[in-house]
Amino acid sequence: MNKQTIRHLIEPEDFTIEELNEVVALGKKMYEAPEKYKEACKGKILATLFYEPSTRTRFSFETAMLRLGGSIIGFSDANTSSVSKGESIADTIRCMSAYADIAVMRHPKEGAPKLASHYASIPIINGGDGGHQHPTQTLTDLLTIKMYKDTIEGHNVAFCGDLKFGRTVHSLIRTLARYNTKKFILISPEELTLPDTLKRTLKEDFHVELQEARYIEDVISQIDILYMTRIQRERFFNEADYARLKDSYLLNQSKLSHAKKDMIVMHPLPRVNEIAYDVDDDPRGVYFKQAELGVYVRMALITKLLGVDVSC
Ligand code: CP
Repeated sequence: MNKQTIRHLIEPEDFTIEELNEVVALGKKMYEAPEKYKEACKGKILATLFYEPSTRTRFSFETAMLRLGGSIIGFSDANTSSVSKGESIADTIRCMSAYADIAVMRHPKEGAPKLASHYASIPIINGGDGGHQHPTQTLTDLLTIKMYKDTIEGHNVAFCGDLKFGRTVHSLIRTLARYNTKKFILISPEELTLPDTLKRTLKEDFHVELQEARYIEDVISQIDILYMTRIQRERFFNEADYARLKDSYLLNQSKLSHAKKDMIVMHPLPRVNEIAYDVDDDPRGVYFKQAELGVYVRMALITKLLGVDVSC
C-alpha cells in the first residue's frame, strides 16, 4: 500500500458523513447476506493489537475478518509480546506492517493508535484509546440506530452513566451532532459529567442544547434512544471514589414503565449493574443485538480500508 494514500480510522471525524453512511449501509447489507462476502478478504491478514482487555471489539473484529475469508494474528495481552521487553509502539507497528494488511489497536493511553498510524504502512483502526475515542463502537451504534429507528437523525438521545471517561459516549455524541442532532440529555453524577471541552464544542460548533439531569426517572418519558454506560472502575484513581459512584444508576422494568413504547436502550457493554436483567427480555433492550451488529459494520470497515471491491 502507498503510505500517502492509506486511510486510518482513529476517530469518527476521519470519515465524512457520506463515508459513515456508506459503511453503515454496507454493514446492513453484510448483516442481511453475509455469505456473499465470504471471500472478499481472501489472503488478507488482520492484526489485533490489544494492550487493554476486550471481549466485543477484539472478537467482533476477528469474526469479521474470518467471515470475509481473511486470517487473523495478534495479542490480547501485550505482556505476551515484546512490549514486555520495552518495545515501543513505533517499532511494534513498523514490524506488524510487514506481517499484516490491516491492524486494530486498543490502548489505555489516549493517542496511542494515532501515534501508531504515523509509523504504519498499513491501515490502523483505533479499537479504543483510554477515555478518548472508540470510533468502531460509534459505527456499531450508528448501524443499530439505523436498524431500529430507520434514520440516524432526528431522535431525542440521552446518555447515562460515566460521561467523563466514557470513550463510547465521546465518539458517539460528536458524531450524532454531525448528523444534526440538536439536543442531548446527559444523565450522570456531578463527578462524571461530560468534559467541559466537549460540551463547549457541542454548543459552539454544533449549536446543540445540552439538558443535564441527575436521575433517569426525571427524563425517561422524553427519550427516544437511551444510551447506558457503566461506571468504569479502571479509569478511577482511587477505589473509594469508584465505590461511592458505582451504583449510581439502575435501569429496570419499573423505570422502563414510564418510557416510550418505542424507546430503545443501547449499551456498548460490558454491563456491570446499571441495567437489571429484567430489561433483557424487553423488546426495547437492544444491547445484545447492538453487539452482534458490530461484526457486520466492522466487516464493512475492513473492506473499505483495504480498498476491496464489494460491489456484488
Ligand atoms: N464495547 C466494547 O468496547 O466492548 P469491549 O470492551 O468488550 O471490547
